[in-house]
Amino acid sequence: MRVVTSISEMRKVVEEQRSYGKIVGLVPTMGFFHQGHISLMHAAREECDYVVVSLFVNPTQFAPGEDLEDYPRDLSRDVEMATEAGVDCIFHPPAEDMYMQPYLTYVMVEEITDRLCGASRPGHFRGVATVVAKLFNIIPAHRAYFGLKDAQQVQVIRRMARDLDFDIEVVACPTVRESDGLAMSSRNVYLEPEERKAATVLHRSLQLARKLVAEGERDPEKVTGDMHALIVRESLVEPEYVAAVDWDLLTPLDRLEGWVLFALAARVGKARLIDNALIEVKD
Ligand code: PAF
Repeated sequence: MRVVTSISEMRKVVEEQRSYGKIVGLVPTMGFFHQGHISLMHAAREECDYVVVSLFVNPTQFAPGEDLEDYPRDLSRDVEMATEAGVDCIFHPPAEDMYMQPYLTYVMVEEITDRLCGASRPGHFRGVATVVAKLFNIIPAHRAYFGLKDAQQVQVIRRMARDLDFDIEVVACPTVRESDGLAMSSRNVYLEPEERKAATVLHRSLQLARKLVAEGERDPEKVTGDMHALIVRESLVEPEYVAAVDWDLLTPLDRLEGWVLFALAARVGKARLIDNALIEVKD
């Protein structure tokens, strides 16, 4: 497997592969791989001829005071895991090349970035949309793979790709969970053992939503209220939001119908964790 750090070399590699008629897949990541990342690499491996994984802890999506400095990193382990997953190339550029100073250009996706995580992390999705647009330009893949654990991010990137006419198919892959239901996340390493146990309530609250919907409940406030009540029973877990929104534009709902995203964020010790369930509500 090849590790490329230069933007111009990365472009050449992809141009070459495309000139041979190869289908190129991109898996954008911030590294510190877990099985969630590996499942994206496997999906890309199955569907594409040449797989590039970008590994870049993107400073513009972290607000001052967030965990940019502490974000877990382990390049040699990541290289090993990506090799094992059959990846062809890792793109690992230096931050000073990605954001040549003075850096003045950003991509803003409106409205859907104001809600859910966008409400408490202003500027986060501007950073995500900007870096993903840059990656789409540097690595003009046919397909790009993202995890549905970051459901809002998936919708922001889909919208950005559509609105800016990127000729890249955005593929969303299912969330990968630990055996007790906790969604895999690089930030799970921040959890102390007691917090790790308590954090399973997040998945349990989403299962509760599924059950209530299956029993016929159609009032979003009732379902999210019950989810919230379940979560706060764990004293180590502090919910930031629990919401039921429409899957397309992430707008709040008066009634549960169609594709509904049940999404939540919570503080557990030092970690801010997110999770969600996408449920089709049929009547
Ligand atoms: O999901 C992530 O790891 C990041 O937000 C992404 C998409 C790689 C952009 O930095």
